[in-house]
Amino acid sequence: MIATISKAKAGIIRTDFVSYSNRAGLRLAACLDHSGELRDRPWVIVAPKYGETKKSNLHLAYHLAANGLNVLRFDHTNHVGESEGPMLDFVLPGAVEDVTASLNFLTANFGVDRVVIVANSLSARCALRAAAQDHRVVKFISVAGVVNLLATMTEIYREDILGQYRQGRRWGITNFLGLELHGDVFLDTLIQSGLHDLAGTISDVQKLQVPLVWFYAERDTWVRRDEVNRVVASNSQARLVLVEAAMHEVRENPRAAEQLFLEIIWSCLEDSPCPADVAGKLAVPNKKLLIEQNRRERERLRRADAPTESETDFWSGYLQKYSILERSSDYQEYLRLVGRLCGPVRPGAAVLDAGCGTGLFGVWVLHEAWKSGELSSLTEPVVYVGLDLTERGLTDAMAKHLTVRQAVPPGVMPGLQYSLVDFDLLDGEKPGGRGLPFLAGTFDLICCSLVLSYLKRPQVLLRELHRVLRPGGILVTSSMKPHCDLSVIYRDSISSQVTVEEIDAGRNLLRAAGKIKLKEEIGHYAFFSQNELATLVGDAGFKLSESHLSLGEQAVVVKATK
Ligand SMILES: C[S@@+](CC[C@H](N)C(=O)[O-])C[C@H]1O[C@@H](n2cnc3c(N)ncnc32)[C@H](O)[C@@H]1O
Repeated sequence: MIATISKAKAGIIRTDFVSYSNRAGLRLAACLDHSGELRDRPWVIVAPKYGETKKSNLHLAYHLAANGLNVLRFDHTNHVGESEGPMLDFVLPGAVEDVTASLNFLTANFGVDRVVIVANSLSARCALRAAAQDHRVVKFISVAGVVNLLATMTEIYREDILGQYRQGRRWGITNFLGLELHGDVFLDTLIQSGLHDLAGTISDVQKLQVPLVWFYAERDTWVRRDEVNRVVASNSQARLVLVEAAMHEVRENPRAAEQLFLEIIWSCLEDSPCPADVAGKLAVPNKKLLIEQNRRERERLRRADAPTESETDFWSGYLQKYSILERSSDYQEYLRLVGRLCGPVRPGAAVLDAGCGTGLFGVWVLHEAWKSGELSSLTEPVVYVGLDLTERGLTDAMAKHLTVRQAVPPGVMPGLQYSLVDFDLLDGEKPGGRGLPFLAGTFDLICCSLVLSYLKRPQVLLRELHRVLRPGGILVTSSMKPHCDLSVIYRDSISSQVTVEEIDAGRNLLRAAGKIKLKEEIGHYAFFSQNELATLVGDAGFKLSESHLSLGEQAVVVKATK
């Protein structure tokens, strides 16, 4: 087992953009990562996860290439990314065909007849089928692979979607994990191909006559451990590797992801004659090359996958479902933390909520004002200003505020001046654009909760927040973690709901989260680690005082002062 990465830098790694067709005649866009010699080197095909593109495997591919392997990364057809075909037509047998087309491309162009396949989550199920039918695959590596899609879908959606389909229910165009597709065609082809259940997975694993490494994430909510055990037990060459403390989205935990990363590389290398120091060290790719290639691919993706919906429409739709999330215990814990970091709201304080959404923080300020007896006079009112892009959020915020206010007993009406402003925080980023419409030093306290990630240049807003905060004032801001895994939070939100409408709203929220993930992949949104958020805040001139993980450890929250 590899324990460390050596400091030795590999030489130049090149990426060639290539394309080829699958059996249906659709063009696949792919990247070949290599260190110059394409012949006589071992090959690895890395399949993208559902909802992701070849770019998400760039880091892994460059590490493999740095250690003498050639890598083919592709985008699925009828899927996100640069390959041909609309997402609406995505079906799992099509994804199987894409893997076979990739193998054919390598054989036709480079005479390749031995390939290792690495695939993740749902794509592992499709790649496994392709591998089971193809003698060119010499090893199969599954990362958090789905083994029983039927069970996974029931776990996610709290409904037997496939069972209902069999009984005649039709879904039309439906949203599957954040992406719209023809639901009935998707389900029909799923059943026909036998890719939907555990028996089908076991049957494919039994056909695979080569080593199989199955990485199982210890905290996986979507894939059951006992079912993976059964899959692995069905093939004597299969090996189960537990990824400790990891969720289905392994990358949410950088330590677990790093360990997994090394083990995948090692698994790809162990049977291949290669220049890596197999005694325990790996070469690392040049960081500058990796960053440059990442930028190039992100630009290409932005052109290929430009969003069709405006940000205002996107957030309006998202906030409509937010009330479900609000009730989850993880979200309540998050709100309490934000409140604690803000500290007590004093009479006369001016509070800014930048990107206020449905006004939860505004309600917190009202409660704070109410709690303090001194605030029943209007002589020194607290001033709360909420800014947001969407009319939807602002209307909800006002309704919520009025409902809570009505509960305040007569005579103890807290002194609170409440205003909500329709404002695009991106304005300040445009050349000659408006900064925040407030004088320097206006606010005592600023909350900017789960907003920075959705701006193109969050540092511009942070500098403005610094300007409008008074010296000694407090900023509390947060971001979801990179590659966060919200599966547990969403499952808990849905499972605590009682009505059909609530379950539906919870499911819609999960779908919206899929869209956010896609925007993260394409680089429209950027989530920050604890260090990254601390650096952003520090660079804007704030002094960092506390940093925490919250929301089921999927969000970073920092407190800073001016
Ligand atoms: C995840 S929600 C967070 C809402 C609220 N701060 C909370 O923590 O509950 C993100 C919010 O950012 C707002 N937002 C995104 N882009 C914005 C922009 N350019 N200008 C103003 N608000 C924006 C959205 O409308 C949405 O209300």
